[in-house]
Amino acid sequence: MSSLIRVVKAEEWRRVCRGLRVQTGSLGLVPTMGALHEGHLSLVRRSRKENGSTVVSIFVNPAQFDDPRDLEAYPQPLEHDLAVLEREGVDAVFLPTRQVLYPDDYTYRVSETALSHELCGAYRPGHFGGVLTVVLKLLLLTGADRAYFGEKDYQQYLLVEGLVRAFFLETQIVPCPLVREADGLALSSRNVRLTPEGRSKAPAFNRILRQYADTEEARRALIESGFAVDYVEDRPDLGDGRRLAAVHLDGVRLIDNVPLSEIGTGIGK
Ligand code: PAJ
Repeated sequence: MSSLIRVVKAEEWRRVCRGLRVQTGSLGLVPTMGALHEGHLSLVRRSRKENGSTVVSIFVNPAQFDDPRDLEAYPQPLEHDLAVLEREGVDAVFLPTRQVLYPDDYTYRVSETALSHELCGAYRPGHFGGVLTVVLKLLLLTGADRAYFGEKDYQQYLLVEGLVRAFFLETQIVPCPLVREADGLALSSRNVRLTPEGRSKAPAFNRILRQYADTEEARRALIESGFAVDYVEDRPDLGDGRRLAAVHLDGVRLIDNVPLSEIGTGIGK
């Protein structure tokens, strides 16, 4: 018998989360878009360690997709995801529909006017507004003590942290380390869309980011290796100081980031 509680409706989710928090002393939330892999599970495991109960949301948020083909192609192996969450000992999963989370048809939305327009935001108009809006809704409905975000999406993590500060939300945002394949490729739900040839080229992305002290040289090396480059930027002003980058390979968009202190050192290779 399944012990994983599944909830679709907003008010029921609020009720279930309140109950879990009272019963177990504390509640952790892991927001996801599904197609779960070890990166997501590292967040779930961290939350299980730090909270009496852990809940996960799975919602492929249309508001954050700037490219309709990307939304269309986004993998949604729901039965697999539910089986994984059950095995991990997650207490409840929120599976809202678009209508449940956007009863206003996305006429009300969060806008951030600085960082959300830089880096990935410069290439994906509206993306971070969509992310921040859905995260605000999930945080308010869940009322978690802590919510877990991966450093894979470093800019997203910083923006969510900023959202919580700006709106005096009571949930603590916990950043979690980026999980990679053994060959250095950052785990991502989109990796399954790479062709076998693309998959064999993909680890060069991280290798090149770490290798070159100069971002222009890194950009050139990426292009020579077959990547179409959106950006490679060193940002000592953001978080602990990172090099952030986005590329396209096989029509799949890949992002990655490396602490500036690790560049040229071979650490993590
Ligand atoms: P999604 O891409 O499903 O990622 C859910 C969470 O897992 C994010 O916090 C992301 O940073 C983390 N994650 C993904 N790959 C990871 C990896 N290789 N290592 C560590 N953490 C990883 O990010 C989103 O969904 C959405 O934007 C969301 C926050 C759910 C809002 O819709």
